[in-house]
Amino acid sequence: MEINDDKISEIRKSVNIVDVISEYIPLERKGRNYFAVCPFHDDHNPSMSISPEKQIYTCFVCGAHGNVFNFLMDYENITFLEALKLVANKVGIYLDVSKNPNKIKDKFDDLYNIYDIANKYYQNNLHTKDGVEALNYLKNRGFTDETIKTFGVGLSTNNQITKLLKAKKYSDDILIKSGIVSNNNGLHDTFINRIMFPLSDLDGKVIGFSGRIYKTDDSSKYVNSKESDIFKKGKILYNYHRAKEECRKKKCVVVVEGFMDVIALHMVGIYNVVATMGTAVTNEQAKLLKRLSTNIILCFDGDEAGNKATLSCSKELESIGIVPKIIRLPDNCDPDEFTKKYGVDEFNNYLLNPKSLLDYKLDELKKQTNFSNSDEVSKYLKDAIIELSSVTDPIVKEIIIKRLSDDTNISMSTISGMLKNKKNVAKTEKKQIIKLNKYEKSERELIFYMIRYPEVIKIYKNNKCYFPTQEFRYLVNEIVHYCDKNSELIVADFLSYLSDKKELLNAFNVIDTMEISDNYTYEQIMDYINELNEFSIKVQIERLMNEFKKETDSLKKIEIAKEIQDLKVRV
Ligand code: GTP
Ligand code: MN
Repeated sequence: MEINDDKISEIRKSVNIVDVISEYIPLERKGRNYFAVCPFHDDHNPSMSISPEKQIYTCFVCGAHGNVFNFLMDYENITFLEALKLVANKVGIYLDVSKNPNKIKDKFDDLYNIYDIANKYYQNNLHTKDGVEALNYLKNRGFTDETIKTFGVGLSTNNQITKLLKAKKYSDDILIKSGIVSNNNGLHDTFINRIMFPLSDLDGKVIGFSGRIYKTDDSSKYVNSKESDIFKKGKILYNYHRAKEECRKKKCVVVVEGFMDVIALHMVGIYNVVATMGTAVTNEQAKLLKRLSTNIILCFDGDEAGNKATLSCSKELESIGIVPKIIRLPDNCDPDEFTKKYGVDEFNNYLLNPKSLLDYKLDELKKQTNFSNSDEVSKYLKDAIIELSSVTDPIVKEIIIKRLSDDTNISMSTISGMLKNKKNVAKTEKKQIIKLNKYEKSERELIFYMIRYPEVIKIYKNNKCYFPTQEFRYLVNEIVHYCDKNSELIVADFLSYLSDKKELLNAFNVIDTMEISDNYTYEQIMDYINELNEFSIKVQIERLMNEFKKETDSLKKIEIAKEIQDLKVRV
């Protein structure tokens, strides 16, 4: 990397982290530090503190921790290099990245340009005489000029874009790759007479299109350009870049199935909305949603497909620790149809009162059950109890047991009994809280002081010891290496240094946010080192014991025994 540590540090020091973060979230000053509601988890009190002195932020609830670059990377969903450039641009520092060109970008420049040309071309078509009918269709669906412009809606006509792009000397190969041009018996436009909706990546750059029919009903309603090196359906969400800010302001993101729903909601003033691309939500999309907000409302179509999508999306979200809320619209409506039929106020009522996922699941089970059939009732109860077994709130539990009892005429005590049986099975799977043993505590505390005091690093170097946990061992190597080069460890700079070593960054954050005294004594440090040495000797003894057991040669056995003896003297 051409940009060296000094340059990175210079750029970091050229801004005040307090100013940068305050451009994104409101800060409040308390004493020496600033506080904010943490944007990286579902926070309700200001749990994030920003230290102007150290130039780092720390969330005491979710553990988010870092320097100005880390903040931008996580908030803007960008790479370290992009964060660096962002800050450099802010203060007018010239960054020479020509020596390490962003290869991926260069490689795909042609594709980006092709989509850009096509996008402009399609949009223009809509306002020519070829576009009259399409424009009418859109106006009938309530599209205003503003909506058309915001979402970049356009029109594909007859075989024009292939010619246009070929005239610009793009190779057949790249044109086909882009998906805008298809190849069967020669090159021709993929989209013919369709209303075109550009699809964007997370930054808003166009990476594909979806085209809707508007003249007929007899071919597939939507055609998407095929996936390419830069367009992967499972990695984007429609409207992500436009909804980002609003989701943070509203502390909520609404997820719908179709991009027409996003646009329809935009037209009635609801902007914190994104859409999946008509496919099951992937793990990556779930993570993107979590970035927008931890308060996620799923508002899928009111039909059975919508129910399936709701359940599978919820499952993906639950796997990353989020429990979404659910809206089910009546009459099999999608949000577009619903707002047109009942108005935005009615929709807002739903938004303000979404169902809990548990209530939703139970309601669905209930809907599917014929209560005059005892087998079905039994199945209903069993399924409901599976859902209920993960509930910890005793009040919610009681309410639901009562409800189940009313539904089925089975006594509450029988249902509670079923639940207890189920729980006993589940209990064995429960996760344990990790408790640190004294060696693990020592290694963490020792590193905590190494980060803060160069003298402690010196003590460590003079009395080398072995760190039992691999990531901490690696981290210590980095700390020592860094301090050899830099004479002191400034946390905010060290965080830049670690930014491409995710595992170590996490390990570092765990340690740097520990709440122990900032002061140490020499004896204390030596105690840590002695304890860690003791541990490593114990590990060695254990290893030798095993060897001893396996060894058959009696002479060698004696040797091993002696080695063990020698070690034992030292602990
Ligand atoms: P409108 O009928 O125009 O209101 O669209 P919608 O948003 O109601 O679409 P629908 O609920 O039928 O589908 C949801 C999403 O699935 C759409 O936004 C598309 O991304 C996708 N989709 C729908 N129909 C097709 C199709 O025929 N082909 C493909 N590839 N995708 C489709
Ligand atoms: Mn629709």
